[in-house]
Amino acid sequence: MADNPVIKMLGRRLRLGVIGGGPGSFIGEMHRSAARLDDRYELVAAALSSDPERSRSAGAGLGISSDRAYPNAVALLQAEAARSDGVDVVSIMTPNDSHHEYAAAALDLGFDVICDKPITNTLDEAIDLVKRVEQTGLIFCLTHNYTGYSLVRQAKAMVEDGQVGEVRLVQVEYVQGGKAGENDPDPADGLPWRYDPVRGGPSLVMGDIGTHAHNLARFITGLEVAQVAGEVGAIVPGRLVDDFAGALLRFDNGARGTFWVTQAAAGVENALRIRVSGTRGSLEWHQEQPMRLLLNPLDRPAEWRTPNGPGTLPLAARSTRIVAGHPEAFLEAFANIYSDAAEAIAARRSGNIPDPLALYFPNAVDGAIGLRFVQAVISSSQAGGVWTDATT
Ligand SMILES: NC(=O)c1ccc[n+]([C@@H]2O[C@H](COP(=O)([O-])OP(=O)(O)OC[C@H]3O[C@@H](n4cnc5c(N)ncnc54)[C@H](O)[C@@H]3O)[C@@H](O)[C@H]2O)c1
Repeated sequence: MADNPVIKMLGRRLRLGVIGGGPGSFIGEMHRSAARLDDRYELVAAALSSDPERSRSAGAGLGISSDRAYPNAVALLQAEAARSDGVDVVSIMTPNDSHHEYAAAALDLGFDVICDKPITNTLDEAIDLVKRVEQTGLIFCLTHNYTGYSLVRQAKAMVEDGQVGEVRLVQVEYVQGGKAGENDPDPADGLPWRYDPVRGGPSLVMGDIGTHAHNLARFITGLEVAQVAGEVGAIVPGRLVDDFAGALLRFDNGARGTFWVTQAAAGVENALRIRVSGTRGSLEWHQEQPMRLLLNPLDRPAEWRTPNGPGTLPLAARSTRIVAGHPEAFLEAFANIYSDAAEAIAARRSGNIPDPLALYFPNAVDGAIGLRFVQAVISSSQAGGVWTDATT
């Protein structure tokens, strides 16, 4: 990450506008820090809240000039499109129900887009964004940030390199405890967006973390889920939104898998884990110990891979910034997604060819495939757990 390909290609940083992620949002801070880490973006415009006054004042609080601290997203998009020094790329981190509207408007105005997951709340909306991306040729980066970890990329590269043989089994789980408490908001007081199916999407747990787990399995294995037999529901009695989902998986190469996600496991923090087993061995990675990737070969003792340690493959090597043994984690992984998207955007804007290894960030097609999976797991559950096609 020593070179700055954006400066090389454009002679300047990309101008970034952010929509959402204002006061109270954890992920907004992460996006802005990730964008800054490798110095490829300059944050010049923002619409940070649905409340116009809070939006303006939060933007000013970030040091955005007063004419570019906008009262809302539409004002940002229109005013920036009209400026000769307007933003190049718009990053969207608002509640799920507004992703489609803002992303579609941004693409129509010629902005490259970075958008948080889930891409949209419905498959139709996701497919619509895929079409707009195809028609415009613009870059669309979806922040499935766990695919930015150096050792997740190492795992992908090892699978591509044949080091585990043909993949036969995939076990992915994303277990959190944030909703283990049994006091949900009272609908009579107005629901926070995540608890409202119109705003949060058809399944709270699937939108929040199910899409991440599914994307991680696809990213590492390069396989697609062909069929699911699932159950979605609430562990906490009386809860009106989903707090768990489980599914048996059949992949397109015949591999079998399990998928388990919940936000109601008391005391668990952010336990995203994956095990991929092939004909030659198994790989295991756990987000809470992100500096260790375990390889269990079929016929040799177990081995660890570490960021930039022996055996590091090129995709992982370009995803670390410091020498082996120095911890890098969540923020750096998030920054890898931003920095790779920046390289692709700068290349597109300058007519250059990006490094092919910069093109592993998730995109609109990944988002649509994620929503297709969400839909299939819900449909299977509603039909009593029957095997359900996840490809259409
Ligand atoms: N990638 C990840 O790991 C990750 C983690 C958390 C959240 N997210 C995603 O980020 C998005 C936001 O989630 P959150 O947890 O930050 O929600 P949140 O409710 O904590 O914060 C949302 C922020 O956006 C602002 N906002 C709301 N509507 C807006 C609008 N129309 N225009 C401008 N600003 C607006 C709010 O004022 C608030 O500051 C969701 O899509 C969620 O799925 C992703």
